[in-house]
Amino acid sequence: MDHEFIYEALPTRVVFGDGKLAALPAEIDKLGARRALVLSTSAQAGWAGQVAKVLGEKCVGIFSEAAMHTPVEVTEQAMQQVKDLAADCVVGLGGGSTIGLGKAIALRTGLPQIAVPTTYAGSEMTPILGQTEKGVKTTLRDALVLPKTVIYDVSLTLSLPPALSATSGLNAMAHAVEALYAQDRNPIVSLMAEEGIAALAQALPGVIADPQDRDARARAQYGTWLCGICLGSAGMALHHKLCHVLGGTFDLPHAETHAIMLPHTAAYNAPGAPEAMRRAARALKADSAAEGLWSLAGRIKAPRALKDIGMPESGIAKATELAMKNPYWNPRPLAEKDIEALIRRAWAGEAPQA
Ligand SMILES: [Fe+2]
Repeated sequence: MDHEFIYEALPTRVVFGDGKLAALPAEIDKLGARRALVLSTSAQAGWAGQVAKVLGEKCVGIFSEAAMHTPVEVTEQAMQQVKDLAADCVVGLGGGSTIGLGKAIALRTGLPQIAVPTTYAGSEMTPILGQTEKGVKTTLRDALVLPKTVIYDVSLTLSLPPALSATSGLNAMAHAVEALYAQDRNPIVSLMAEEGIAALAQALPGVIADPQDRDARARAQYGTWLCGICLGSAGMALHHKLCHVLGGTFDLPHAETHAIMLPHTAAYNAPGAPEAMRRAARALKADSAAEGLWSLAGRIKAPRALKDIGMPESGIAKATELAMKNPYWNPRPLAEKDIEALIRRAWAGEAPQA
């Protein structure tokens, strides 16, 4: 183990269980709030209506315009509603977009927020908020944006499509893998990371085989929660840097990019973080983390090649160049030739190599 570390717990109350959406009114009481504004995307407006019903007179309105990357214009519209309706808390039902909006409102008002996640993104467990203004994305970390309460109700995840469950699950695991070798890792978060990887690795094949399997879904959601804590607690390295470069430069879909890259970045970092990767491998019940992640991705039919999600072969050199710019901490130093080979393998869909 590491003999020096800093551990800071994230003070979120977590209510976990099938049907726990019904606990929402009591959770609002606990916060001392009485006038909730319910948030969702337009696609999930129907669900927001159900949440409003559960809340009864504790709901003062619904704002169902949450959008990807938390555009500031949308936040301003929602802020107007918060004011007009004199809301004293927000309830965000959905994935990263809706939870992002709840965080943006909390940042501006200090109002408490309750997050009710319906995906495996994990944003609800982090004090991190990414916002976009005129196409420029900025990310901040502030205790104010951390949800006060998170309700994990497995019944809200049953309709998450299998393909999205697979890529979103691997995206969540990436946070745990990177937390295990993070520069600011600590023993508690490492325990959560290992358990999060194990829970998702065990659950995802069952979720893909039968999306209505509540047991597998609950285990996946449990793993998601732990991986979310990892993202909120530890710094990210090569994997996230590469995915941001690839996603930003070639407009690749987020979860798919993470799913494809993870076995490759795990392989690259294995020599620089042998203990962390040994723990990841143990969680995956595999000989190595890279091999375990690669075979899991195959079993749950996640995409394995960047060329299949829209990256041109000509982009490999550009991505390498950008990945080498602005040095950042990573357990294994970045060697341009090796990074280029890694990206090329991921582009072609070849097995990972150290
Ligand atoms: Fe991430």
